[in-house]
Amino acid sequence: MCLPAINGELMNLTQKISFIGAGNMATSIIGGLIRGGISPTQLNATNVDKDQLARLQAEHGINALDDNISAVADCDILFLSVKPQVLRSVCEEIRDAVQQRRPLIISIAAGIQISSIDAWLGGNLAIVRCMPNTPALVGVGASGLYANPLVTETQKAAAETMFQAIGLTEWVSEEKDLHAVTAVSGSGPAYFFLILEAMEAAGVRAGLSAATARRLSMQTMLGAATMALQSDDDPATLKRKVMSPGGTTERAIESFEKDGLREMFDRAIKAAAKRSEELAQQLGASS
Ligand SMILES: NC(=O)c1ccc[n+]([C@@H]2O[C@H](COP(=O)([O-])OP(=O)(O)OC[C@H]3O[C@@H](n4cnc5c(N)ncnc54)[C@H](OP(=O)(O)O)[C@@H]3O)[C@@H](O)[C@H]2O)c1
Repeated sequence: MCLPAINGELMNLTQKISFIGAGNMATSIIGGLIRGGISPTQLNATNVDKDQLARLQAEHGINALDDNISAVADCDILFLSVKPQVLRSVCEEIRDAVQQRRPLIISIAAGIQISSIDAWLGGNLAIVRCMPNTPALVGVGASGLYANPLVTETQKAAAETMFQAIGLTEWVSEEKDLHAVTAVSGSGPAYFFLILEAMEAAGVRAGLSAATARRLSMQTMLGAATMALQSDDDPATLKRKVMSPGGTTERAIESFEKDGLREMFDRAIKAAAKRSEELAQQLGASS
C-alpha cells in the first residue's frame, strides 16, 4: 500500500484541530495526520458512538471530548465530519461557540454548500469545503477543495497540507466545480472497480482462472496509474507507447474506440455531476 511519507509541513502545523464526527473519513484523516507527524495531543474528536471514539483514542492517543462545544472552544481548525443529514443540527448546536472562537471551518459533508454552513454557524466565517474519496481510507485519496474568500493563504496552505496526508489535493476556483470533482474522483473509484469486474470476467472467458484474471487486472491498473503518475508523458502518449502497429493492444484499443468508450465516459460523468447538483438542491431544500 502506498501511504504518504512523513510530511515536513504537517510537522510545522502547530494549531489545535478538532473533529466533530469521528467516523470513517475522520478516522482516515486523523490517521494520515498522525503518520504525517502531527502530535496526537493537537487533535480533539467527538462522536455520538462513544465506544468508537474510545477506540480511536486508544489507537492514536488523541483527545476524546465529551461534547461538541468543548471541541470548538479548544481548536483553531474545526473539521465538520458528520453525515450531511445531521450537519445543520450540529452547526446550530455549536454556533455560539464558533462565533466566539472563529476557527477555520473545514466541511467534508457531501453536497452542503458553504452558504448554508456559514448561515447555520452565524455567518462571516472562513470555510473550506472538501470532496474526498474512499481511497483516502488507505491513504491514497484524491480530494477536491474549495475555499471561500474569507480563507487566508495561510489557512489554505494548512488545509492543503492536511488533506495531502490522505492523498492528492486539487483546488477548484468555483464551488460549483465540486460537482465535477464528485463525478470524476468522488464516484471515480467505482468506475475503476467496474473496469476490474469487466476485465476479470473477460479474462475468465479468455481462459484464465478468476483469481489469476483478477490479480493480473488489479496489478495492471496499479502499474498503469503508477506509470502515468511518474511519467512526463500524457496518457495518450503512454497508450501509444504500448501499441505497436498491427499488434494486440492496437486491436483492443480500436475495438474500444469503435464501441464508443469515450462517449460512454462522457455520458456517465455528466450524469453523475447532474445527480450531484440534484442532491445538493435536495439537501439545501430540506435544510
Ligand atoms: N466515506 C466517504 O468516502 C466520503 C467521501 C466523501 C465525503 N464524505 C463525507 O464525509 C462525511 C463523513 O462520512 P463518513 O463516511 O465518515 O460517515 P460516518 O462514518 O457515519 O461518520 C460520521 C460520524 O459522525 C457521528 N455523529 C453523528 N452526529 C453527531 C453529532 N451530533 N456530534 C458528533 N458526532 C456525530 C456519527 O455517529 P453515529 O454513527 O453514531 O451517528 C458517525 O460516527 C459525510 O458528510 C460524507 O458526506 C465521505
